[in-house]
Amino acid sequence: MSTPVLELTALERHFASPGGTVRAADGVTLTVGRGEVLGLVGESGSGKSTVGRCAVRLDEPTGGTVRINGTDVTTLSRRALRPLRKDFHLVFQDPSSSLDPRMTVGAIVAEPLRLHRIATGEAARARVAALLAQVGLRPEHADRHPHELSGGQRQRVSIARALSVEPDLLVADEPTSALDVSVQASVLNLLADLQRERGFGCLFITHDLAAVEFLADRIAVMYLGQIVEQAPTRELFADPRHPYTQALLSAAPVPDPVTQRSRRRIVLSGELPSPLAPPPGCRFHTRCPLATDRCRTEIPALRTLPDGREVSCHLVTDDGTAPDAAASPSRTIPSTRTATR
Ligand SMILES: Nc1ncnc2c1ncn2[C@@H]1O[C@H](COP(=O)(O)OP(=O)(O)OP(=O)(O)O)[C@@H](O)[C@H]1O
Ligand SMILES: [Mg+2]
Repeated sequence: MSTPVLELTALERHFASPGGTVRAADGVTLTVGRGEVLGLVGESGSGKSTVGRCAVRLDEPTGGTVRINGTDVTTLSRRALRPLRKDFHLVFQDPSSSLDPRMTVGAIVAEPLRLHRIATGEAARARVAALLAQVGLRPEHADRHPHELSGGQRQRVSIARALSVEPDLLVADEPTSALDVSVQASVLNLLADLQRERGFGCLFITHDLAAVEFLADRIAVMYLGQIVEQAPTRELFADPRHPYTQALLSAAPVPDPVTQRSRRRIVLSGELPSPLAPPPGCRFHTRCPLATDRCRTEIPALRTLPDGREVSCHLVTDDGTAPDAAASPSRTIPSTRTATR
């Protein structure tokens, strides 16, 4: 197997706060293969953006390692990191905050080419024109400023900029969630097309289960700073094993109304606990409809099951048989009675 474009090993990002240590990422191990899309899902506050920012070294991990194309970049200085920067890029949720309002679109897209001495002058202009066309913008957009564009167009500009130096890894953190619903699909389609054409690896962070099902080859599910399950996309959707994954997926709308009616929505009680004081034992036990005494005291390891799936739950047996959180009547309601969106 070729070297993964991204390899996080026991990644930790703790923040010191007046209330104590915030364990935003607490031992995250994952890889993104060459040309692979790994979806990272989990509810708000679970630590997805923290992982994404550490992966591209916009934030400093407090523990663990980050490898890009096999090179350990965890502790590289800014200076040492600079020549490697062209290999990885981050596309943010809100393109307006990541695009310099004083620069023209053409200059924004050309900047990485200039910084990495890939192209200047006429060659850069030609590259920019080609990139704008690839992301569905017109040549005249090059002379506009970000505020003269729509949200969807701005996100296309940041995608063009990120891809200008042909990175091996793109970290996309909720790239469509700030956009109008009507343009979200077109930006997702664009990302999917570009990914297929260019074959970059992608860590795709999102709340949107339909988007992750569409784009990701594999999915990692995060809960309170840790990964609780990892599997190929189709397998995860067909057969979620961790009770948290089951709950998360049960909230997603299903296109088929018959399936939708027969499904039970698992309602988790309470909020995500604070990463200042994660619960002992299994971090999910305070909200798990199936938790036992063992779950309250003993930390479950992330195990690799015979079929290759990774899951951290005491209730999943070694042969991979999973519990069914929806079978716990006290915490479920028929899905027809809930508005999921
Ligand atoms: N700079 C910081 N200082 C202190 N705590 C932080 C900092 N950045 C993030 N956190 C905390 O770390 C936890 C994880 O935050 P993060 O933004 O990574 O979550 P997320 O999964 O991306 O959430 P969302 O889906 O809402 O974007 C949160 O509890 C957050 O408050
Ligand atoms: Mg986030």
